[in-house]
Amino acid sequence: MKTVQVNDKKFSLYISENEIKEQVKKVAAGMNEELAGKKPLFLVVLNGAFMFAADLLREIDIPCEVSFVRVSSYEGTTTTGKVKQLIGLNENIEGRTLVIVEDIIDSGITMREMLRMLKEKNPADVRVASLFVKPGNLQVELDIHYRCFDIANDFIVGYGLDYDQEGRNLPDIYKILE
Ligand code: IMP
Ligand code: MG
Repeated sequence: MKTVQVNDKKFSLYISENEIKEQVKKVAAGMNEELAGKKPLFLVVLNGAFMFAADLLREIDIPCEVSFVRVSSYEGTTTTGKVKQLIGLNENIEGRTLVIVEDIIDSGITMREMLRMLKEKNPADVRVASLFVKPGNLQVELDIHYRCFDIANDFIVGYGLDYDQEGRNLPDIYKILE
């Protein structure tokens, strides 16, 4: 079993880079079909979604735009529940088709807040794309249009996701060892 040390915790290999790429391609194919002619604006949520977005967007072959936003609300391995505001949105999104590109939906509170803030600006359509979803932790009802993996409630790291800001550079996904 391949393991890595990130900060003070040990993690074991969970999902390989190749498995991720395969799922990302499938999700992108769905977007290429469903969003053709809509010139979607992809809103990539930093920092966690940077690697997912880089791979996803290279598979998108329809006209689109890409921008980066930030909503920070998470510290360590448990959610703080304190969601801050949306930073970095400079585009006029009225009437646009948006695709929020997120690394992981855990309680779903971050996404619900983001949707609320974006919908105030009257976009035509807002779609949610998340690399991971933890269905067992979801506390709110969400329409998640595109997702690569449903996972158990374990804390994961790698491929953009961090443990106290470390581990984002790992090409594969690792799961915490109890
Ligand atoms: P939510 O508001 O509970 O859905 O939390 C979403 C945010 O928590 C994500 O955007 C991540 O930044 C962070 N998060 C949730 N679970 C994990 C995990 O297993 N590893 C790393 N970050 C996580
Ligand atoms: Mg995040």
